[in-house]
Amino acid sequence: MNYSLLTSSNPADIQSDCIAISIFANKKLSNAAMLLDTATDGMISKFLDISDFSGNCGQSHLLYSDAAIQCSRILLIGCGEENAFDQKIACTVIKKASKKIAETSAKHATLLLLDTLSERIICEQSMRQSILTFADSLYRFEQYKSDKKEDAALEEVCIAFTTEPPCDVATMLIQGKAIAKGMQLSRDLANQPGNVCTPSFIAETAQSLAEEYTSMQVEVLEEQDMEALGMGSFLSVGKGSSQPSKMIILHYNGAGDESRPIALVGKGVTFDTGGISLKPGGNMDEMKFDMCGAASVIGTINACAEMKLPLNIVAVLAAAENMPSSQATKPGDIITSMSGKTIEVLNTDAEGRLVLCDALTYVGRYNPEVVIDTATLTGACIVALGHHICAVLANNDELAKDLINAGNDINDKTWRLPMDEAYSKQLKSACADLGNIGGGGAGTITAACFLSQFTEEYQWAHIDIAGTAWKGKNATGRPVPLLAQYLINKANNQH
Ligand code: BES
Ligand code: MN
Ligand code: ZN
Repeated sequence: MNYSLLTSSNPADIQSDCIAISIFANKKLSNAAMLLDTATDGMISKFLDISDFSGNCGQSHLLYSDAAIQCSRILLIGCGEENAFDQKIACTVIKKASKKIAETSAKHATLLLLDTLSERIICEQSMRQSILTFADSLYRFEQYKSDKKEDAALEEVCIAFTTEPPCDVATMLIQGKAIAKGMQLSRDLANQPGNVCTPSFIAETAQSLAEEYTSMQVEVLEEQDMEALGMGSFLSVGKGSSQPSKMIILHYNGAGDESRPIALVGKGVTFDTGGISLKPGGNMDEMKFDMCGAASVIGTINACAEMKLPLNIVAVLAAAENMPSSQATKPGDIITSMSGKTIEVLNTDAEGRLVLCDALTYVGRYNPEVVIDTATLTGACIVALGHHICAVLANNDELAKDLINAGNDINDKTWRLPMDEAYSKQLKSACADLGNIGGGGAGTITAACFLSQFTEEYQWAHIDIAGTAWKGKNATGRPVPLLAQYLINKANNQH
């Protein structure tokens, strides 16, 4: 899919297969709609006069024209009250337009929906949202299907304005395309089945990414390297699997050697059976998505390299397969983490925190400015927030706030959950420094409290994506937009 920009004072001159325009409440035409109405001898206003179309948000109607304009389809999109137009309405409107355009055989579509915007922020958000919405509506994972759906007709989406837009649209186009690309990589990787997407497969994906961008380098720690480093916690998770565990480190250098890196850490459990604490069979296939944290980190660093953000990033993907076998870690086993803390594995299904804690200790050696980890960590997160909003937990208020704001900027929403000493106490073990599960409820919080014992040296936030990383049987690419937006904001504010 191609995305392009256009400023044209007269939409009647635009060559396209479909032009989408805004109609506001009480049939009020946008500037672009007015110009097209004149060029079509009042076709739009005549239609509005005789129809039930009022311009309420969510309405749409397709008109065909053989008038003296360069486009045969005019798609009317209801946008509600003009002065109430905000990002939320923009999302609805763009989604509607993408759905309706996909129902036609248009190859080239022009969006003239942001034409009356005067606010920079809404313009920026809507520009990127347009690209992400179209990318999402066209995404398919059909590699293993013999009968593939016919290719979508749509080849190009042009975002057009009739007057000078109130934001830097060229930059927004680059950002939107980069984030869409990162999301696609993340989804393609996460949708792979567990027999294909092993820790080695994630390592190979990281390696080919590093080959594609000179700004990136990759290192892979093998099991013997991790043994030498004392990563007993991480290694305990893959012990039951014949697939070797890998700790994959991707460096993106966009800011020279002096600047401290931002660290991203992703849970990469390529299949989570639960181990000896075996999960029930229903929907266990979905545990191939237990590497979505790692997939979103790799997608985010790809987006950053595309945007050439002036930041340094170190990404750590903790990849292992959690299987039961005679070699597997058992409930009651005590392991020693890289930090020196001992952990009693009370439940082998609470494995995410075991791979993450050593990755979090390891990343400390890069002296990171902040560390953000993301993981499909707890089923409890779905109980708390369902499938719409990611949980954020942090040991630093400003970092939490920055993440929440970034999520709001790009419609990849988060909600902060608290952390407190009282919850940490739930992680007691009779024989070791801590247990890997906390009884007594608040599973998402106790999991984060476990991690917080390994992140005391730096500013840290944790994003639990158990409810948001996939929908049905399809990876969503979240939280790539959130992380990418956070890093964009970071790059913009550092001067
Ligand atoms: N990967 C799961 C969490 C999960 C479950 C994510 C369902 C998405 C959907 C994680 O490894 C896990 O099994 N967590 C346990 C922790 C418990 C044993 C303390 C859980 O949430 O049940
Ligand atoms: Mn588990
Ligand atoms: Zn898991």
